[in-house]
Amino acid sequence: MSSPVAVIDLDLPGPTISRHVYGHFAEHLGRCIYGGFWVGEDSDVPNVGGIRSDVVAALRAINIPNLRWPGGCFADDYHWRDGVGPREARPRTVNSHWGDVVEDNAFGTHEFMALCELLGADPYVSGNVGSGSVREMSEWIEYLTRADDSPMAALRREHGRDEPWKVPFWGIGNEAWGCGGNLRAEQFASLARQYATYVREHAGNEVYRIAAGASDHDYHWTETLMRSFDPLESGDGRAAPFQAVSLHYYTMTGPWSDKGSATRFDTDEWYLALSRAAHMEELLTRHGAMMDRYDPRKRVGLVVDEWGTWWNVEPGTDPGFLLQQNTLRDALVASVHFDAFHRHADRVVMANIAQTVNVLQAMVLTDPETDALVLTPTYHVFAMNTGHHDAAALAVHLRGDVPTREVDGGELPLVSASASTRGDTALVSLTNLDADAARTVVLDLRGRDVVGHTARVLTAPALNAHNTAATPDAVAPALHDGVRAHKRGLEVDLPAHSYVTVRLELAPADD
Ligand code: AHR
Repeated sequence: MSSPVAVIDLDLPGPTISRHVYGHFAEHLGRCIYGGFWVGEDSDVPNVGGIRSDVVAALRAINIPNLRWPGGCFADDYHWRDGVGPREARPRTVNSHWGDVVEDNAFGTHEFMALCELLGADPYVSGNVGSGSVREMSEWIEYLTRADDSPMAALRREHGRDEPWKVPFWGIGNEAWGCGGNLRAEQFASLARQYATYVREHAGNEVYRIAAGASDHDYHWTETLMRSFDPLESGDGRAAPFQAVSLHYYTMTGPWSDKGSATRFDTDEWYLALSRAAHMEELLTRHGAMMDRYDPRKRVGLVVDEWGTWWNVEPGTDPGFLLQQNTLRDALVASVHFDAFHRHADRVVMANIAQTVNVLQAMVLTDPETDALVLTPTYHVFAMNTGHHDAAALAVHLRGDVPTREVDGGELPLVSASASTRGDTALVSLTNLDADAARTVVLDLRGRDVVGHTARVLTAPALNAHNTAATPDAVAPALHDGVRAHKRGLEVDLPAHSYVTVRLELAPADD
């Protein structure tokens, strides 16, 4: 059997991989906001204005580009006026989606915007369609972004913030087919047009409006939203009245009632999870094809604003808090998703993994007893991929003997790859999904001379290896010396169950 060969034309840059596909999502759910991001100003945990400094530092280190908030399902139950003004005067409400807990609204609009400023991330606010009103949404964006003495700008000043903020991303509802109102596609499409109209652009704040989109393979939902544009463009050439539709897709190995354990799984479940992750490729292709029918020039973006693994909660924890461990398997689920996002860079303008801290496929876990912060294996994939942010996608053609395995009625390729270039560098991402076998991949590098390379590897002895406060680096990236010159370019050793990135230094291009 010959090695798989990855053919890459380094001189044929494709569409830009938006840094926003490395976006994040923070919902009022379990310990994501409270105890995760927010500890309050009086906490012993080092914080700036109540926001945990170590969490901010960890996310800044991976160049977090944007943060979606306040939900999720919570967004369609959230009334923004409950979360502004003096904290002690804010009403207590009920978070009926997540644990039925009382929400004291300590973390609201100003706290979220302060968090985004600390992170250096663009805010992505999810507006309430399900139980809100057009007026409420319209006043929220006025409150956030208006500069003069309009009623909402004046209220913001009364609450201590003089300057308007910039809010580049705005969600029109969330999962409108489910927790966001149980609406029919046709019904929501009309509402999305209406609500988006009133998300006004104040004080030069250009807003990218994202209509709540489909779940999984609900192509009818995407088609209905695409049809509803008619006409597609506003006077300025942008799609209107909204600019993007979203898509949600979660990876799990069992049914909704028993999604699988985060840490106790066998080899079959390893492959099942990775084949479910690889399914993102088909979803992007088919939702993209549906969008192409109505928008061949790709003016409407596809925003995958919820994705990631969803396992059974950790034993003994609140089922409504969605706390799960994060293993090497989660890391490879992430790398496989990123390969798909890179391949579809012409349509996928943003993606948000669910969720940033202590919930679902988190970047960081914080211990409620000791306050220790742990970086997850998934975090390290984000860290290894920062070179792809805003770089030009390069097509990777896998040839030769690419091993496959029959999983779930289909053939799962056991090597996944993508690449990008920026200036005189390129970054190649390679995932070996094989639970047991190491593999060597030849990089057939064409079009530009490669004058240097460095590589990193993320792997661990066990498939379910994960990081804890006691063993924070059980899964952590290391320099990889398994890269050699080859007559076609380079050959790269991929340990079993590993993720490898190879950074290439390129000689200046001949023009
Ligand atoms: O991320 C958890 C939940 O998953 C979100 O609130 C909802 O949008 C989705 O169903």
